[in-house]
Amino acid sequence: MAGMMEGKVVVVTGSGGGIGREIALAMAAAGARVIVADIGASLSGEGGSATPAQQTKQLIEQKGGAAEICTESVAEWSSAQKIVQAALDHYGRIDGVVNNAGILRDVIFHRMSRKSG
Ligand SMILES: NC(=O)c1ccc[n+]([C@@H]2O[C@H](COP(=O)([O-])OP(=O)(O)OC[C@H]3O[C@@H](n4cnc5c(N)ncnc54)[C@H](O)[C@@H]3O)[C@@H](O)[C@H]2O)c1
Repeated sequence: MAGMMEGKVVVVTGSGGGIGREIALAMAAAGARVIVADIGASLSGEGGSATPAQQTKQLIEQKGGAAEICTESVAEWSSAQKIVQAALDHYGRIDGVVNNAGILRDVIFHRMSRKSG
């Protein structure tokens, strides 16, 4: 797979951790330059931090890849446009987006307590 994405620029949303981080690492290993887009929310969706995105960027760079971060949210048009703009500002192009960001509200009925709704 090495080199398959050479010269490409991709945005991976929600790549500060979890599945998105692994996608970002795999794409960087294949030669892509990656915009690590993540607001750094907790599992339940609260808060915000640049640290998760920074950590993914560091992991990519430690392996010789190239990445930049963007901490704008995918949830609004205006902030989502800033993510695309980050790719253009840093690398002058955008070839793909993996829209992985999301909050899993894992409250399927058999996992609910009597209080949760
Ligand atoms: N892990 C599972 O079992 C599972 C099951 C079904 C669906 N999913 C979905 O798959 C995706 C990845 O899952 P995961 O387990 O890696 O999740 P995760 O919670 O580990 O990672 C999601 C990332 O998305 C980021 N994020 C959340 N809202 C954002 C926003 N508005 N803008 C930018 N970034 C945002 C968070 O900061 C977090 O780093 C999510 O969309 C999740 O809902 C996961």
